[in-house]
Amino acid sequence: MKQLVVYSSRSGNTKKLAEFIFSRLDGDKEIKPVASAPDPSGYDVVAVGFWFKGGQPDPDSQEYLKKCTGVGKLFLFATHGSAANSDYAAIGMNRARELAAGAQIVGDFDCPGEVSAKTLENAANKDPQPAWLKDAPAAKGHPNSDDFYKLAEALTEAGLIEKRQPPEKGMFV
Ligand SMILES: Cc1cc2nc3c(=O)[nH]c(=O)nc-3n(C[C@H](O)[C@H](O)[C@H](O)COP(=O)(O)O)c2cc1C
Repeated sequence: MKQLVVYSSRSGNTKKLAEFIFSRLDGDKEIKPVASAPDPSGYDVVAVGFWFKGGQPDPDSQEYLKKCTGVGKLFLFATHGSAANSDYAAIGMNRARELAAGAQIVGDFDCPGEVSAKTLENAANKDPQPAWLKDAPAAKGHPNSDDFYKLAEALTEAGLIEKRQPPEKGMFV
């Protein structure tokens, strides 16, 4: 079974999730930044990770997701400045699902990702300010150990990794 992890990451948050997923997959696997990612059609499992821009997957990821419509097992993951489990985050993830429509999406995961001071400043100077800005301070320190734990759970539910043993939670503390 050929597995591919593709990620887009400007400041490193989504890359951390990608590297975690890659480390947990067994067998034949590759990890690539989206800029040099291969055609997904040659893979049995593809995990695509993106960061939110304008409430959607970042532009490079949008283009890649459009190529994933025929993937047999697609897992989506993302980081964002908006709050975990917010409607805003759900809308962005749904947009990714739409872009890859036709693929068999086996699961998804998203969590906050720390926003740089410069990005916060730029967003604060916009008029109107983006809706996610009020949540962004709480994204500091994410992704954290709890996020990785939940990601492992999502991967398990998706059938991409073996069931966890209980002590795993301590691994990320
Ligand atoms: C230009 C820019 C636009 C952004 N727009 C959004 C947005 O629309 N919604 C959101 O929740 N977060 C937004 N963010 C925050 C990032 O999505 C978040 O910090 C993410 O974790 C960055 O991932 P990365 O470190 O992998 O690049 C934006 C960040 C930047 C730099």
